[in-house]
Amino acid sequence: MPKSLKIKTSPSLALIKYWGKQDTKTNTPATGSLAVSLEGLTTETTITLANEDAVFINGKAQPAERFAPFFHQVRKSLGTKHAFHADSHSNFPVAAGLASSSSGFAALAYGCAKLINPYCHENVISSLARLGSASAARAVFGGFTLLEQGSLNAEPLNIAWPDLRIIICIVQSGPKEVSSREAMERARHTSPYYSVWLEQSANRFPQALEALKKTNLSLLGPLIRESYLGMFATMLTSQPPVLYWQPDTMALLKTCEILRHEGYEVWETMDAGPQVKMFCLKDQLENILSGLKNRYPDIQLLVSKPGPAPTLCP
Ligand code: PMV
Repeated sequence: MPKSLKIKTSPSLALIKYWGKQDTKTNTPATGSLAVSLEGLTTETTITLANEDAVFINGKAQPAERFAPFFHQVRKSLGTKHAFHADSHSNFPVAAGLASSSSGFAALAYGCAKLINPYCHENVISSLARLGSASAARAVFGGFTLLEQGSLNAEPLNIAWPDLRIIICIVQSGPKEVSSREAMERARHTSPYYSVWLEQSANRFPQALEALKKTNLSLLGPLIRESYLGMFATMLTSQPPVLYWQPDTMALLKTCEILRHEGYEVWETMDAGPQVKMFCLKDQLENILSGLKNRYPDIQLLVSKPGPAPTLCP
């Protein structure tokens, strides 16, 4: 058994959002999600067998209680008494609404599982990753993925869409004030629109899956937009409300709409944070990027495309 290994993962960006827990104990999702792994954004984690669990993110020790249920289940499921030391570094802002918990927990689950059992199946790893963060269940696979409502693990989708591009507009890189975990629980308990969100999400999911299988952005785009706006409707109507948006967020959403009116096929989404992500096709990328750079020279823009599955580093 190797004592240490290094694993590289990419975050999982949802086109159709998971928002709300079906069961808090198992951390199963109340809504099905469809996502894509983001090439070029990476989390590299070195996992070592240790006497005591410890997690460091970009050099900072993390609170043990956040990871205790995860490690407990990892040991139970893998049949080991070992503890784990994890040292994780991401090349993009963490805890800022850029899905760092998805790549982080996917790396952690992948690394722990492969250290104990090199033949551990990806479905088992996905199920372990879900305990840390449900979106991490998806980040265990590359490309496009699906995590069904109430499901224990995500599934990879056999969809090739090499021309899809994702523009990530970093409005603010500091950590957010309310975690997605807390925000979605607040929405579940207090938003009068939460039940509507669940109902509409269930209707939207099969339509979006069909549009994704057809790799048809004009069909998928409106569903991507409905999904994130429905999710934010539950946040804005929570008690107290969760307000992740910054003035630049709103300006970017408006610009995306203007670009669409100008004839560009570009559709935005957001997660639990102020950043705006836009989906477009390769042949329109440069024009859309210039449209954004001309209007917002100070906003950092990253360009990504469907990314790889986790890899073990030599
Ligand atoms: O997996 P968590 O707890 O980080 O929640 C992720 C929630 C969203 O990013 C807003 C949506 C999603 O499906 O990734």
